[in-house]
Amino acid sequence: MTGPAGAPRGDRVAEAMRAVPRTGFLREHERRRAAEDQPLPIGRGQTSSQPSTVARMLRELDPPRGARVLDVGSGSGWTTALLAHLVGEDGVVVGVELEPELAVWGGANVEATGQPWATVELARPGVLGVPDGGPYDRILVSAEAQELPAALVAQLAVGGRMVIPVRGEMLTVDRRGPAPDDVAVRRHGAYRFVPLR
Ligand SMILES: C[S@@+](CC[C@H](N)C(=O)[O-])C[C@H]1O[C@@H](n2cnc3c(N)ncnc32)[C@H](O)[C@@H]1O
Repeated sequence: MTGPAGAPRGDRVAEAMRAVPRTGFLREHERRRAAEDQPLPIGRGQTSSQPSTVARMLRELDPPRGARVLDVGSGSGWTTALLAHLVGEDGVVVGVELEPELAVWGGANVEATGQPWATVELARPGVLGVPDGGPYDRILVSAEAQELPAALVAQLAVGGRMVIPVRGEMLTVDRRGPAPDDVAVRRHGAYRFVPLR
């Protein structure tokens, strides 16, 4: 039996996707398309990522309850709200978004889910992520980098994990020790994303 995006029932990510439906994070005229396994426009040239890709990334990230999570490129706020559901009220989710209009709209969408342990911030000029809020147990990045950003590895706790698309490939990055290059990287094949700017 399958749930949203073909996910097996009983897994935490499928449950989160049922509890926090994509519909509440789409523009009104796109809502009838919420069930399509496609990226959908959210304005400012950005997209709500394909649900099966979101599910894959969240499964790979595997945020435990109570974790402190950074969501880079929070856009509509959907991933931020899904992460909030996964970590529960003892956790913290910091969404960060570069486009001011999306940061406001996405933040309101997250607020409407009644999970006050998740918030959205506007990215500060020239600053990647939210260094002041770190270190994070998990970092999700929904925009494609050209190389693994050292600034985000630096915000990852030792033992923490980041899922990020780099040059068209999805990577899982586990930080093993305090040295910035002490990471283990696994690759999961080709994915397309809007660019990380
Ligand atoms: C695929 S879209 C949105 C996906 C989002 N997680 C969602 O659920 O709707 C990626 C977002 O990353 C944002 N972005 C790109 N570079 C960024 C950066 N350096 N810091 C924060 N957000 C960034 C874009 O403006 C865009 O809204």
